[in-house]
Amino acid sequence: MTTAEANPERLPVVVVGAGAMGGEWLRMLARSAHAEPVGVVDLDVDLATRTASSIGLTDAAVGSSLADVVERSGARAVINVTVPQAHRVVNEQAMRQGLPVLCEKPLAPTVAEALRQVALADLTGELLMASQSRRYFRHLAAFRDAAAQLGPLGAVHAQFFHADHEPGFREQMAHPLLVDMSVHHFDMLRYLTADEPVAVRCASWNPSWSWFAGDAAATATFDLASGARFVYSGSRCTPGLQTSWNADWRVYGEHGAASWDGDHLVQVDAEDAGFEVAEASEGIEGALEEFVSVLASGLTPQNEVRTNVLTLAMVEGAIRSSERGGDRVVLAELLEESLAQAIADEKSDDVADLLRSWPSAAEAIATRAWGSSPQPVPHASGGAR
Ligand SMILES: NC(=O)c1ccc[n+]([C@@H]2O[C@H](COP(=O)([O-])OP(=O)(O)OC[C@H]3O[C@@H](n4cnc5c(N)ncnc54)[C@H](O)[C@@H]3O)[C@@H](O)[C@H]2O)c1
Repeated sequence: MTTAEANPERLPVVVVGAGAMGGEWLRMLARSAHAEPVGVVDLDVDLATRTASSIGLTDAAVGSSLADVVERSGARAVINVTVPQAHRVVNEQAMRQGLPVLCEKPLAPTVAEALRQVALADLTGELLMASQSRRYFRHLAAFRDAAAQLGPLGAVHAQFFHADHEPGFREQMAHPLLVDMSVHHFDMLRYLTADEPVAVRCASWNPSWSWFAGDAAATATFDLASGARFVYSGSRCTPGLQTSWNADWRVYGEHGAASWDGDHLVQVDAEDAGFEVAEASEGIEGALEEFVSVLASGLTPQNEVRTNVLTLAMVEGAIRSSERGGDRVVLAELLEESLAQAIADEKSDDVADLLRSWPSAAEAIATRAWGSSPQPVPHASGGAR
């Protein structure tokens, strides 16, 4: 009997990628009431074995081949915690095997790679959801409720200052701040306001003492569809006065202002405004619960692959602007150029044919293919904005 059959009420999952974050996922899954880790895959099988046994997962299937571990374990879903460059290939293998995937951020290093995954999700009918775990913080939901009471917004400001030493892919990337970290904050902006970004101006650079090879600091200003602005500054090599990993936020609107320190302090200064901090699972646990719940309900999760494309477009738009000396980059143009790139890069005929058939990237990501209706956004009590 496989482990999966022994525990039918928990979704049996394979975790691909047994590095630092893969270990975090496996520890959380080992105690989760919603899913059970029945398999671990990594190119480094010794690492996968060590990680699984350090968590006491003695029955889990371990190996370097996803297909083989899925077959041995009876897994019914995949959690992809590999490095960003491997995300698309692993997600494609899983969907081709008929399995839904919850994939760590960033879903792909480029919008073109994300669009190829949108097409494959359409073809296979499988759920592909990005785990943007920083959406799932109770105080972010409270801050969102407070911001909803400010009337039309003028601007949202977010500042992120940290100094992290995690040798590995981050320290080799061209844009470790924007691709690996700001993707969280940009996605949180979309959760916070439900206002969509339309254009960006950005400058990125690497302070002289930085231990990152690529740009560890950036400033970016986004034009939002409502006319409001999102003003962002960040750095991964700030040795003092550090902010929360969630960044430090302030928003003002016609009727007042609100702030959140990224941890537990939410403030609102507007007549009759208030908020509550509701109980909810946070971080990757929150993402897992939404994934398991929509697999059962058929609803569409907040960060189904189509929705997540615009978060990735914010990152790539910021990089493009920075590389062009701070020029204004229009995200709608970036989306359509990315579709042309996706068609040029795609090697599978079925995916390439589907990409070619799309009237536009914008229409393709607006068309709901997985799930019957939008999932109500957890924690949202502030009403539609
Ligand atoms: N949500 C968060 O707060 C958060 C925090 C840290 C990391 N992350 C994300 O988690 C992911 C992993 O980060 P990490 O710090 O664990 O990286 P890591 O380098 O420590 O681990 C990645 C692992 O993936 C394995 N791998 C690479 N390609 C593979 C493939 N094709 N098949 C199987 N295994 C493969 C590597 O051997 C390595 O063990 C990244 O996308 C990162 O951005 C998210």
